[in-house]
Amino acid sequence: MSEFKNQSLPDEESISRRKLLKTAGCAGAAALVIGGLAGRADASTGTYPQVRIANLRDIREGKPIKFDYPLIGRKSLLIDCGCRVEGGIGPKKSIVAYSMFCTHLGCGVELDRNSEMLICECHQSVYNPGESGRVVEGPAPGSLPMISLDIDNSNGEIFATGVAGLIYGLRNNLLDGEEVR
Ligand code: FES
Repeated sequence: MSEFKNQSLPDEESISRRKLLKTAGCAGAAALVIGGLAGRADASTGTYPQVRIANLRDIREGKPIKFDYPLIGRKSLLIDCGCRVEGGIGPKKSIVAYSMFCTHLGCGVELDRNSEMLICECHQSVYNPGESGRVVEGPAPGSLPMISLDIDNSNGEIFATGVAGLIYGLRNNLLDGEEVR
């Protein structure tokens, strides 16, 4: 799986619903156990690679950074939610990352700047990045897989180190793909 499924354009009803969804995204963050080990990708041992994503100075609130993880084509997105999130890193513990594959049928999710939610354009599932990727609305059956992040406090370098949850369409997040270098 290297590309998202085709997406339909949003209609007026869905756009106005998004505006209504604008809420304090970080309220009531759900507890989440972050898994993952640094190292080379190894499906046989479940070892995730440690991959540099960005530096703290590159990150702006509301401006997501996209990256592939744990393998090439496994689109993911890093966001600064601006307030504390369970599993978040950085000075405010507000920086988090998620798989961009919707858990319903695998379309791509994007950050909606109005609502500050991650929204799937196919069937309008809505996920809250400030609540560990929890589904707020729509047919998605579960939260977005959360990418474990680590930060080197000496220089602000941010690394992806694992994935909590199975990415849509996969039987193993580390199988059937090329390693990100
Ligand atoms: S594929 Fe995302 S809501 Fe259906």
